[in-house]
Amino acid sequence: MARVDCVNLSKRYGDALAVDNVNLTVEEGEFLVIVGPSGCGKTTTLRMIAGLESVSGGEILIDGQVVNKVEPRHRDIAMVFQNYALYPHKKVFDNIAYPLQLRRVAKEEIRRRVTETARLLGIEHLLERRIRQLSGGERQRVALGRAIVRQPRLFLMDEPLSNLDAQLRVQMRREIIHLQRQLHITTVYVTHDQVEAMTMGDRIVVMRNGLVQQIGDPVMIYQRPANQFVARFIGSPPMNLFDAYLEGDGGSLYLQTGFARYPVPPEIGSRLAANPKWDAGRLPVVCGVRAEEVGLTLGRARPGEVQGVVDLIEPLGSDNYISVALGKEMLLARARPDVAIRETAQVQVNLDLAHVHFFDPDGGASLLAA
Ligand SMILES: Nc1ncnc2c1ncn2[C@@H]1O[C@H](COP(=O)(O)OP(=O)(O)OP(=O)(O)O)[C@@H](O)[C@H]1O
Ligand SMILES: [Mg+2]
Repeated sequence: MARVDCVNLSKRYGDALAVDNVNLTVEEGEFLVIVGPSGCGKTTTLRMIAGLESVSGGEILIDGQVVNKVEPRHRDIAMVFQNYALYPHKKVFDNIAYPLQLRRVAKEEIRRRVTETARLLGIEHLLERRIRQLSGGERQRVALGRAIVRQPRLFLMDEPLSNLDAQLRVQMRREIIHLQRQLHITTVYVTHDQVEAMTMGDRIVVMRNGLVQQIGDPVMIYQRPANQFVARFIGSPPMNLFDAYLEGDGGSLYLQTGFARYPVPPEIGSRLAANPKWDAGRLPVVCGVRAEEVGLTLGRARPGEVQGVVDLIEPLGSDNYISVALGKEMLLARARPDVAIRETAQVQVNLDLAHVHFFDPDGGASLLAA
């Protein structure tokens, strides 16, 4: 088990900053997930921790020791890649045994540890098969086996499940979580899949363009995204966003959207009122609301209520996604399929401002965070 610190970590390729001043800590025994869109610097960050990529700026510490100049094989790290990097013509046994053979571990000890690892992964019966005779999921288990067989102090995984079909991915996801909890090895796991990040991570690091956007536990990031990017990236379907502005009126605050005017509850209002960007009695904002927080009631709105028209229903089985036109805006709601709402139906739309996020239209930072 180890603790990892990245301090002002940067990687430059020519003029481009692939990793831009990243600061993060992986606690001992923690499962940390780095998530973000393609090209945001996830793999580069992981490869620098592994020592496979040189560092352009900053430091990497493992258990408090700067390892920038330490050779990969002396960092005591195991890495699992997307393409597994197994030896296709060798037997499963030899693939798992390889890191131990490299370290000249005694034959009997190798046999014992490979068998034990295979049992842990449920692939004991495959030890004599060759890699090319295995399914994708079986290969994935062998790759995991090779990584854990020598009990490294740090486990790095780069999109290890992306070659598997959806069902197998869910199964392997659970197996990796169980394995990590059982072995308690500090793990950094890279993915562009926000569902994997949410379900697997003790904590999540959201990256974009080489920059860390937010670090926190999954629920915190879901409930309190630090900015518009995180709000849209984490959660499915993505959060609804729409332009609005706040307006003071006789000591109270109101939110004026394209479809309604809402009084702002004082506990939110007092924090928004303190914003330095108020101009001529107005504060432009971008509002965000998750689909499950858009309440729909069948029927025509009464005066003071918000009228919408159902534009499209997308059934998912467990839920329906319901697109509702509100004047010029389109909001996506999520409802139980037993709700008797049909396309073209008139609905009342209920928003609770306690569940609305407020972002700065300029830069997208949350106006309520911090
Ligand atoms: N060897 C290299 N030379 C030049 N640029 C590189 C090199 N490796 C990566 N980059 C660039 O650095 C940026 C970050 O790449 P990286 O592979 O870390 O992204 P990623 O987040 O892992 O993306 P993906 O989800 O597609 O794997 C990208 O813009 C990429 O083009
Ligand atoms: Mg990558």
